Amino acid sequence: MKKLLDLITEELEQAFIKAGCDGAYARVTLSNRPDLCEYQCNGAMAAAKKYHKAPILIANAVVEALAGTELLEDVQAVNPGFINLKVSAGFLSGYLNEMAEDERLGYEKTDAPETIMIDYGGPNVAKPLHVGHLRSAIIGESVKRIARFAGHKVIGDVHLGDWGLQMGLIITELKERKPSLPYFDETYEGGYPQEAPFTIAELEEIYPTASGRSKEDAAYKEAAMQATFELQQGRRGYQALLKQILAVSVSDLKQNYANLNVDFDLWKGESDVQPYIPDMVREMKEKGYAYTSDGALVVDVKEESDTKEVPPCMLLKSDGASLYTTTDLATIVERMKLYRPDRIVYVVDKRQEMHFVQVFRCARKCGLVAEDTRLEFLGFGTMNGKDGKPFKTREGGVMRLQYLLADINEEMLKKIRESRPMSEEEAADIAKVVGLSAVKYGDLSNQASKDYIFDVDRFTSSEGNTGPYILYTVVRIKSILKKYEEQGGRTTEGRMMECENESEKALMRELARFNSVMETAYEELAPHKVCAYLYDLANAFNKFYHETSILGTEDTARKDSRIRLLVLTRRVLETCMDLLGFEAPERM
Ligand code: ARG
Repeated sequence: MKKLLDLITEELEQAFIKAGCDGAYARVTLSNRPDLCEYQCNGAMAAAKKYHKAPILIANAVVEALAGTELLEDVQAVNPGFINLKVSAGFLSGYLNEMAEDERLGYEKTDAPETIMIDYGGPNVAKPLHVGHLRSAIIGESVKRIARFAGHKVIGDVHLGDWGLQMGLIITELKERKPSLPYFDETYEGGYPQEAPFTIAELEEIYPTASGRSKEDAAYKEAAMQATFELQQGRRGYQALLKQILAVSVSDLKQNYANLNVDFDLWKGESDVQPYIPDMVREMKEKGYAYTSDGALVVDVKEESDTKEVPPCMLLKSDGASLYTTTDLATIVERMKLYRPDRIVYVVDKRQEMHFVQVFRCARKCGLVAEDTRLEFLGFGTMNGKDGKPFKTREGGVMRLQYLLADINEEMLKKIRESRPMSEEEAADIAKVVGLSAVKYGDLSNQASKDYIFDVDRFTSSEGNTGPYILYTVVRIKSILKKYEEQGGRTTEGRMMECENESEKALMRELARFNSVMETAYEELAPHKVCAYLYDLANAFNKFYHETSILGTEDTARKDSRIRLLVLTRRVLETCMDLLGFEAPERM
């Protein structure tokens, strides 16, 4: 469906032409004076300059030309030359009826679908998830859903960090604890056990222990670096161990992400792209891009217009070991080969921006990426505690994701229990669903690139711009619809009539904005635009609800019409929530 604003603009275009002006002056926007009008057009002012006429004369002529329009009512020219507009109630309800009949709610799929890869999550294998990974998962998931809803082919890739020193540390620690395992025997030629030699709980303990030891014991650290190197060079036993670590870790990660309502199409990682590295590096050398500097292999990526220094992109260390940059470059090679994406979007902490500047430039320079493939960095800000510093545990350590979610759940549970009597089980279930909305909405309602303060109290409040407030609104609608059905009403029938009062019209106008909001949210990859819309829509609905009797309406045709409006409101709210990655419970 065409956007309502575009339809109004087209109507104004005709009127400008009739008034002897160019139609291009007819741009209509939402009103910034909602007390006076719903939409406005300031084009007469600009046209006045071109045609050397008083703006009000042009505005008057346009208003005159609009006489008899079905789209608008109450059209006014106001000094010095504003055109104030209101959409006609009849046209608006017609638009909403059409929207309600469309399964996509009037938002058309793109006619130029692209293949878009989204690199998000980025957990490091065997290391616990921390809050830094939370933002990547939440934002990436939402961006993926928004792009998919726009009609693109979207592939989400978790891009595991499974190739760094943490692997060598785990191997080293395990070797000390269980030296007789066949993985450590270089002469061993048989098969390796199916079963991993550790559980996830052990793995989670092994890594911090090893990491702590390496900081105190230089020889230990040396051994871990050597193990990392040998793993990367393909030592058989270590490769087998890596597979085991991955298997145990990934099944745990999947569980964690499922709890967050986040999922990935691909569970690939840094280690998967190792086979591409030798050829990639050789070609870069042959083409003359890569050269040796202080023993390391590098590619220059600085550009003349740089205002800050962009260091060379390092491909291989002097011992031949690959780096974070190398795996990211090889990942681009693999992605191009297997998926030929039109865009790759990286949802990563903005503190890694320089890394991506280097990677993107290097990939372009060396021709790893097709010219028309866009590489995009969607960097997000830091989640801070109330003290404005990066979120920490009470003891000052890195906050693990699990604990943070547990905190939210606990607070949510307290609030849910206070709201009405219910069984412990029900309270726990609801707290989980609502808690997730609190975390996700609290995060997504901020522009991704900005830092924000994680405030458990505020995020879990049922009032204000929060996830729980949105859920309360949906649950309220659900409960009215349920009662209506219990009284024998059918929510699937009937059309909406013209609105009767201002708050009903305001709600209708909010609903009509849906396709336009979706378009912007995709263009800007901006979940916060969806949040802002949800909040506006929820407010418009609640105002309408407080001012209007719904089930008590005498006139049944009117009652049915209002029910239709509720059904549509619920659908729009739920669609938006789904794009953000959370949902509402049946009751709260
Ligand atoms: N594993 C990395 C980290 O924890 C994030 C990975 C981001 N994605 C990428 N392609 N580099 O910092």
